[in-house]
Amino acid sequence: MLKAKRSMIFLLIMMIMLTGCNPQSSQVSNSDQVKFVIGVSQANLLEPWRVIMNEEIKEEALKHTDIRIVFTDAVQNSEKQIRDVGELLEQGIDLLIISPNDSAELTPIVAKAYKKIPVIVLDRAVEGYAYTLYIGPDNKSIGKEAGQYIAELLGNAGGNVVEIQGPAGLPSLRERSAGFREVIGQYDNIRIVDTVVADWQRDKAEDEMEKLLQQYQKIDVVFAHSDYMALGAYKAAKKNGINGIKFVGVDGFAGTNGGLQLVEKGILQGTFTCLTGGREAIQYALDILKHEKGIPKKIISRSNKITLYNVMEYTKAANELKKDNSKKKVVLGFSQLGAESDWRKANSQSIKSAAIDAGIELIFLEADQKQEMQIKAIRSFIAQGVDVIAFSPVVESGWDEVLEEAKMAGIPVLLSDRAIKPDDNSLYATFIGSDFLEEGRRAARWLVGNGMTMPSVNIVQLEGTVGSAPASDRKKGFAEIIVNYPEFQVIYSASGDFTEAGGQEIMKSALAIYGNQIHVVYAHNDDMALGAIKAIEEYGLKPGKDILIVSVDATAAAFKGMMAGKLNCTVECNPLLGPQLMQAVKGLLSGRQLPMRIITSEGVFPAETARQDYLNRRY
Ligand code: AHR
Repeated sequence: MLKAKRSMIFLLIMMIMLTGCNPQSSQVSNSDQVKFVIGVSQANLLEPWRVIMNEEIKEEALKHTDIRIVFTDAVQNSEKQIRDVGELLEQGIDLLIISPNDSAELTPIVAKAYKKIPVIVLDRAVEGYAYTLYIGPDNKSIGKEAGQYIAELLGNAGGNVVEIQGPAGLPSLRERSAGFREVIGQYDNIRIVDTVVADWQRDKAEDEMEKLLQQYQKIDVVFAHSDYMALGAYKAAKKNGINGIKFVGVDGFAGTNGGLQLVEKGILQGTFTCLTGGREAIQYALDILKHEKGIPKKIISRSNKITLYNVMEYTKAANELKKDNSKKKVVLGFSQLGAESDWRKANSQSIKSAAIDAGIELIFLEADQKQEMQIKAIRSFIAQGVDVIAFSPVVESGWDEVLEEAKMAGIPVLLSDRAIKPDDNSLYATFIGSDFLEEGRRAARWLVGNGMTMPSVNIVQLEGTVGSAPASDRKKGFAEIIVNYPEFQVIYSASGDFTEAGGQEIMKSALAIYGNQIHVVYAHNDDMALGAIKAIEEYGLKPGKDILIVSVDATAAAFKGMMAGKLNCTVECNPLLGPQLMQAVKGLLSGRQLPMRIITSEGVFPAETARQDYLNRRY
């Protein structure tokens, strides 16, 4: 078997070398003992950021003796990239890493590849979910943070700002610019006097800046979407003997003329790091190929603001990454919000068993859905001097003070399952959990696509805990879709606190008012849906037939409900977060910078296929 594999790999490399069919191909490997071949389809190598992405992929790959990387370069041409992927597939790669030239145009070939092998998508997302893992930055928040920093730089005096962008039309660029403008728009005394396009190129930015300097008497700040372009603009100002303009860039790479060095030299006032994801892609590729547990669906990388004040510290921390502290015995304090649902019980179990598997000492405290108990638990972890704190916040707001205390004590905090607001991401190292907004949308999409033909469809919504992230996002996501279908109306909506008893009670009240005029129940979790089923039966109607029921979680009890014909669809919310959490704890302690968000992989399960799907369920 192994022999066959080796000769296939040999053949693949020979084909690439001999046919010369793809002049943009190259390959990297560390030994002859190759077990896995990874194809990397890069959109182009004209952008310095992508060159660095490939460099990182190479560097990380060279740490492993059992993989070989085959690179292709699509030279900014989607048709070529489709062909590249086709060829890589024909040649038998084990996993594809792709950074698409165009999201829509590359979606079909990515989906085709995903039918055969795992696919990791970098930077530009594809449409839908036909891929294994997506890794990319949050461009809108990079733009916002840059806007905020520039407003601080300008202070009360305000001033004139110029924006230098990469190639027009890129969605990532539009998002970055939108975030920037959203913030700058809040200041009456700051004007964006011009926006120019410099295609990520330093020289072009220099030329554009030359023209701007002729045109405008006073430019106070230049915001360039990359450090290279910021450097070009700086050179133009210098050449014209103009001092006093502040330059802010994005990327924050190390090395000669990288953003970090430019900040250190005072050429840039600041930069916002934008990781390429290349290194992480290889790390996850190996986990995927080795069938490790807990592979997320989406990873949104973190951006750091780098200025003269923290550039040394940041560079030092980045170098520390190379040291391995992972051997030390680790103590993790985990504050679980309660045991309100089957989902929560599965989540607690997953955390406990993953801690054992990872050899992490776990102090696990449950809080009976009470925020004050969680705050007390976090304070006790700080007092005990644990290495890492993780918690699942029962509600979104009210955590700043205790998280500041953890920060002061130098203990990193991880958010598991639920997010916080305001989302001050300097207070936590990463968020690991689901996309609740998307879960709400998925429930609504299933409903509107379910062929109900009445002139008006009356919905009862059973909401989760008031003020919690899943309750507000599932409500918002659901509303976002059904607003386009006026026949679907939520006629009653109240909180059942994610418990079965809560769901039963609200449903009883809803039935008392609306009786058989109710056509659909949308429950924010399965437990409340099961409570509603009881109330509907007590009322004398048939759940799943007289009233359709769609809920969130996809627990075993919901599957049994579907198999009994009482529940119609459940949208998955994966509680098995333990392995990802332990991986993050270990990564953090071995010096890795964690991404801002790690989003779990999830599906939708309708009653029609419940019996079959149930065979593969693990909770
Ligand atoms: O935060 C996740 C939600 O909390 C689950 O969907 C619900 O069942 C739980 O109580």
